[in-house]
Amino acid sequence: MVEPLAGEITVYFYAILFARYPDVRRLFPQGMDIQRDRLLRALLRVVELVDDPESLVRFCGQLGREHRKFGTLPAHFPAVGECLLDTLARHAGPAWTPETAAAWTKAYGIVAQVMINAAEQDAAVRPAVWPATVVHRVPRGHGIAEITVRPHGSYPYAAGQYVSIETPWWPRRWRYYSVANAPREDGTLTFHVRAVAGGSVSGALVHRASVGDVVRLGPPMGDMVLDAAEHSQLLFVAGGTGLAPIRALIEEVARRGGHHQVELFLGARTAAELYGVDEMLRMAQRHHWLTIRGAVSHERIPGIRGALPEVLVEYGPWYEHDAFLSGPAQMIASARETLTFHGTSPRHIHHDPFETPVLSVP
Ligand SMILES: Cc1cc2nc3c(=O)[nH]c(=O)nc-3n(C[C@H](O)[C@H](O)[C@H](O)COP(=O)(O)OP(=O)(O)OC[C@H]3O[C@@H](n4cnc5c(N)ncnc54)[C@H](O)[C@@H]3O)c2cc1C
Ligand code: HEM
Repeated sequence: MVEPLAGEITVYFYAILFARYPDVRRLFPQGMDIQRDRLLRALLRVVELVDDPESLVRFCGQLGREHRKFGTLPAHFPAVGECLLDTLARHAGPAWTPETAAAWTKAYGIVAQVMINAAEQDAAVRPAVWPATVVHRVPRGHGIAEITVRPHGSYPYAAGQYVSIETPWWPRRWRYYSVANAPREDGTLTFHVRAVAGGSVSGALVHRASVGDVVRLGPPMGDMVLDAAEHSQLLFVAGGTGLAPIRALIEEVARRGGHHQVELFLGARTAAELYGVDEMLRMAQRHHWLTIRGAVSHERIPGIRGALPEVLVEYGPWYEHDAFLSGPAQMIASARETLTFHGTSPRHIHHDPFETPVLSVP
């Protein structure tokens, strides 16, 4: 009933939360205009999962662990719960019966408890955030920069994973970036960041970050890792800075002795935007198991012309491969559709979520 009122509900919820509990305001970023609806979307997810307790607990557990980096404490939950239920009551009108209120109170209590427990268990084994010093910054043209950081302390992760980053210029504004390298001996991590038009965190990382600046990292996330592959033949498809996790996976294949056969397709609109192709070609010269093809969709140049999904059909079939896709959401969606249409099992197609990961898990 309240779903169509999402915008109104979200504004009302934060207004009463910050008015009644001003101390909670400091946990949230200054500009609250972006993605304010995530709390409501999470609740809708809870409603969807209500008959599937196992998935519900997994979802709430993940949510609880993710809240650690926001500085959320168990004591904050009653305040949020009170404001949330008051918001629902106000907007649901006559549908908010005593039974509904009692059911929601109970449901919120359970969700909160699962989130709190998961956060506590996580706190026993790892920090909430890792400060990391910028040690290298290389502009790559087209608004892209490679930023290398060294976490203060050990930061275990797997090649292909992504990390949420908070910069000193936009406190409490966390954004996700894929690590572009397999784990290194010196512990450093490299990110490929593209400054999006009007983008706050990406703009700061590309144009402001310099050696010595300290950012904060959340825990590593994501399942697009080499161990997810069942086949030894791998298809890697990358568009734009989507090359970052694919590059890490290629390094990982090399680290493990090159026991996979890898075909990499790099796509861009124009040849000049074919990001990272030279380095990949050098890698292909060193490693016999790696074949690389660049495809350009909006320019006539020698070589492959066309959008990646069409090009894939031409070079297929791929049903005996595990496919790893990374790049713009539109490209991933159509590549996935093309591959499934041509016989690849969805189980063998791997890609990161398009936005807020915790809300994107199937
Ligand atoms: C799993 C995952 C991995 C990611 N990995 C990378 C990576 O390796 N490298 C990288 O550069 N980015 C990556 N991103 C995107 C990144 O997290 C940010 O969304 C992006 O940098 C924009 O953040 P911002 O704070 O600069 O923009 P915001 O201040 O949040 O947004 C400003 C404006 O830009 C628009 N906008 C936001 N994101 C995009 C976008 N991606 N493209 C075009 N317009 C946008 C918004 O709608 C808004 O109008 C990844 C995202 C996810 C979910
Ligand atoms: C049932 C309880 C709750 C649910 C379902 C919930 C849901 C969410 C979701 C889905 C996000 C987005 C996560 C992401 O971007 O990865 C989020 C962000 C956040 N939550 Fe919660 N939350 C809950 C309780 C709380 C509590 C008790 C606090 C503490 C005051 C809190 C503070 C925050 C903060 C500070 C953010 C980041 C906001 C931003 O980046 O704009 N949440 N929450």
